[in-house]
Amino acid sequence: MTQRILTGVQPTGSLHLGNYLGAIRNWRSFLDSHECLFFIVDLHAITLPQDPGELTASTRRAAAAYIASGMDPQKCSIFVQSHVPQHGELAWVLGCSTPLGWLNRMTQFKDKAGKQKDQASLGLLSYPVLMAADILLYKATHVPVGEDQKQHLELTRDIAQSFNSRFEKEVFIKPEPFIVESVARIMSLRDGTKKMSKSDPSEQSRIHLTDAPDVIYDKIKRAKTDMDLLPGTPEALENRPEARNLLEIFAALSGKTLKETCLHFEGCVFSKLKTELSDLLIAELSPIRLEMEKLEADHGYLDDLLQKGAQKAREIAGETLAEVYATLGFLKAK
Ligand code: TRP
Repeated sequence: MTQRILTGVQPTGSLHLGNYLGAIRNWRSFLDSHECLFFIVDLHAITLPQDPGELTASTRRAAAAYIASGMDPQKCSIFVQSHVPQHGELAWVLGCSTPLGWLNRMTQFKDKAGKQKDQASLGLLSYPVLMAADILLYKATHVPVGEDQKQHLELTRDIAQSFNSRFEKEVFIKPEPFIVESVARIMSLRDGTKKMSKSDPSEQSRIHLTDAPDVIYDKIKRAKTDMDLLPGTPEALENRPEARNLLEIFAALSGKTLKETCLHFEGCVFSKLKTELSDLLIAELSPIRLEMEKLEADHGYLDDLLQKGAQKAREIAGETLAEVYATLGFLKAK
């Protein structure tokens, strides 16, 4: 059976170094060995209010970011979730048999809904059902997700299992989470104990793929440090989260291990690390930024590409949905 990798990204905010080093960059290695589907989850984005113009722009920006970071559109399908109507259709079907108790347990829902649960929308509650539909529609075998999405993937497996056993038929494939070994966990530049995140109010806390060299240089220069010289071993980084983070980023970009990186900077002041790190970051991100700018300026090219991606996705999704409808006993449309 072909292994099919599928993952989605929200078209909100700009992609940052954490998304790149922790996720997107590692997906390149799947392109030759797996069938890959990457999509932009605009239906998920509207579970929170979005500005329409901004949503259109960030959808194109996310597509540009995928391509510029190495997702060669000749080797994978890139598409927009709302271009494939089967996502919403399957989500409805799956929602009809997902107990509310399962959804109420989701930690992301609890976080996003806050104290006033009654004010939270139905969409926010059923967000994980739509995500299950995204995955099950394509019979994806592997789904690369971050720690925060693991619970949703677990739910997807439960939903698949319960559908299959109810109809005594292997309609859905239970997807495995795909955790790439040795992936760097990139932390905030302002606080080494917090993940780099697009929801952090401080722009200084993260580096965007679209940051120009002088901005990168400035953010790294101002990144939080501590008072000591850099240590020669990873063990000595125990209570030094900021030092660890900068060294981890350096290691991830240079292809060295953390141990080698520590040795390289043993006894140095932070400014030496910061200078070398900025140079590496600029060398890695500049081509991506330039490619993104080029792609974002060419709506025709980008929209055509997304159109092609959606066509391919609709073929696969249509087949699965037909199988589901037949299983349910829906009268076939003529
Ligand atoms: N919920 C995911 C996130 O916020 C995005 C997502 C939606 C997704 N559907 C998916 C990821 C399907 C993987 C597979 O990161």
